[in-house]
Amino acid sequence: METVHATGPIAVLGCGKIGEALVRGMLESGFAAPAQIRASARRPERAAYLQTTFGIHAGTGNAAIAGGAAVVVLALKPNLVLPILEEIRPALAPGAVVISLAAAISLAQMEQAAGGATAVIRAMPNTPALIRHGMTALARGRHVSEPQMTAAAGLFASVGRVVTVEEKHLDAVTGLSASGPAFAYMVVESMAEGGVRAGLPRDLALELAAQTIVGAGAMVLTTGEHPAKLKDNVTTPAGCTVDGLLELEAGGLRVALIKAVSRAAKRAGELGNK
Ligand SMILES: NC(=O)c1ccc[n+]([C@@H]2O[C@H](COP(=O)([O-])OP(=O)(O)OC[C@H]3O[C@@H](n4cnc5c(N)ncnc54)[C@H](OP(=O)(O)O)[C@@H]3O)[C@@H](O)[C@H]2O)c1
Repeated sequence: METVHATGPIAVLGCGKIGEALVRGMLESGFAAPAQIRASARRPERAAYLQTTFGIHAGTGNAAIAGGAAVVVLALKPNLVLPILEEIRPALAPGAVVISLAAAISLAQMEQAAGGATAVIRAMPNTPALIRHGMTALARGRHVSEPQMTAAAGLFASVGRVVTVEEKHLDAVTGLSASGPAFAYMVVESMAEGGVRAGLPRDLALELAAQTIVGAGAMVLTTGEHPAKLKDNVTTPAGCTVDGLLELEAGGLRVALIKAVSRAAKRAGELGNK
């Protein structure tokens, strides 16, 4: 993956799990140097951890951390996004772009809280950003310039793939690719359990299951083939795979996964009200 470089300071407010994944990814990819990144958290000990672990400047004062940054990432829980946006509003540098990772807080709400013609973007990344295999969807606000959009896309490209979507699709994206790693972990865990049941040592079963899911995902992306065709290629007539597929159909795997994504997407739409 080709890495572009950050052109200005980046502030990550609310640097918890996903914020830390972004910071780590930006540093490991060489997208940004520690001196370019600042982060905030609620607890001083969390800020101290971020400072010690990554060599970045971190603190608990959101306005101080956001001030002067070219890109301000709000990695906060949804209920904190608008109050903290109002709080940091006077400190925002001219030309700064604010990127929220929160489900359900709309671009219009952010534009109103930030005031004036502030450039705001919604981003929905996922935790594999931690190892630079993330999937992020971006939705663009009305006042975002091309260079600001390029800066945002560059940041998330440093930790994986990036797509741009219309805002109306972000809840569905949340249910699919942001919640999806948890669904995939359950698939990996269960396939490994099957390997153990068939006599494999647990560590080996886990490695085989995980790499199989990595490989299958990469096949879909690399070949551009429909997954059904790729599945057919594995399925020898009267072979073993078709027996396994039959079990998955009988167990309702398809329906379970479809329902899991749509339930998570529905919940994503409710989160801003909590
Ligand atoms: N996890 C994911 O895979 C994922 C994916 C996409 C989007 N998101 C979104 O990203 C956001 C954060 O999720 P998360 O899983 O990273 O949550 P998290 O681990 O709980 O992180 C939230 C962070 O916000 C900090 N915080 C709380 N109050 C604050 C304040 N007043 N000022 C500054 N920082 C404050 C917390 O600090 P302390 O640690 O000191 O309490 C914590 O580090 C959510 O909106 C979520 O929907 C998450």
